[in-house]
Amino acid sequence: SSLLQAIEPSTDSSANDDEKTAIDWNNLGFGLMPTDYMYTMKCFKDENFTQGQLSRYGNIELSPSAGVLNYGQGLFEGTKAYRRGNGHLFLFRPDQNAIRMQNGAERMCMPSPSIEQFVDAVKQTALANRRWIPPPGKGSLYIRPLLMGSGPILGLAPASEYTFLIYASPVGIYFKEGLAPLNLYIEDEFHRASCGGAGGIKSITNYAPVLKALRRAKERGFSDVLYLDSVNKTNIEEVSSCNIFLVKDNVLSTPATNGTILKGVTRISIIDIARDLGYQVEERSIPVEELLSADEVFCTGTAVGVVPVGRITYEGRRVEYRTGSRLVSQELYSTLVGIQTGLIEDKRGWVVEI
Ligand code: COI
Repeated sequence: SSLLQAIEPSTDSSANDDEKTAIDWNNLGFGLMPTDYMYTMKCFKDENFTQGQLSRYGNIELSPSAGVLNYGQGLFEGTKAYRRGNGHLFLFRPDQNAIRMQNGAERMCMPSPSIEQFVDAVKQTALANRRWIPPPGKGSLYIRPLLMGSGPILGLAPASEYTFLIYASPVGIYFKEGLAPLNLYIEDEFHRASCGGAGGIKSITNYAPVLKALRRAKERGFSDVLYLDSVNKTNIEEVSSCNIFLVKDNVLSTPATNGTILKGVTRISIIDIARDLGYQVEERSIPVEELLSADEVFCTGTAVGVVPVGRITYEGRRVEYRTGSRLVSQELYSTLVGIQTGLIEDKRGWVVEI
């Protein structure tokens, strides 16, 4: 962008990216590491987003009565930029995040960027922060688009002004257990989503309400929490930070996205990959008992990747699953990473070089 060039012409050069950022790429977790630039674009209610811009990363100014602060009128997204061995940089299916943000915005009475605006803004943010994209195999640059009601409002109504903002942080492995199989706790007191609610979109309001269950489970040594449907408490839904799959014989099953399940980009990509590899995949209601008798269980998400589940605890009962190196989840993840790194043909055009 011309603005970026005006601020710091040297970031335009791809040479010496690694030298310019003296960080330990071997120990990246999933913590915030502030980067150089963020992207901002604003628009008024009933209008369209027009021109956004990059600026130095830093705090933003918001009215105390902003819709997002008072009534939770906000959405977020998550996508990643990667570096290949040849130094080329790429994104993975950013259009899918754009579409999901549009669907969420419709549900939350917000205007949203067009797919082109969203993808262009993600590209600009990734390129402006390119020195923070880790070397191949060491992690990725996690890109976090936000859409929020930034205009002041007192009575309950959509805000008068909206802000689309993107920031980024280099990340490695999400769970503190590293790549070890997850130890999940099935929660039957708290729920993540309800029918007719916002569980199917990436509303910011889906996340703080699970913190209590998550904290309690972590205190007891679990990696994360698996939630049940809030009507009968009999079917599995998703984990706080990711979707879930089970494998029984050669069939993969995952909860159908009927409004309470987040339509994960990794979830749908893994479904397509599994079908290509000859697995049968079912999207349907899954009784918790069926999960407990599965051969293998794994989770998918942009932040978490594809990670096996080793144990699940439900009502005091602990079930163990197949782990090791010959897992179906391992085959699926290797294929996904192969497409991303260029070892496997990207026949669907998922990889976007920037
Ligand atoms: C992601 O996977 O990108 C998410 O948004 C999950 C979040 C809880 C880190």
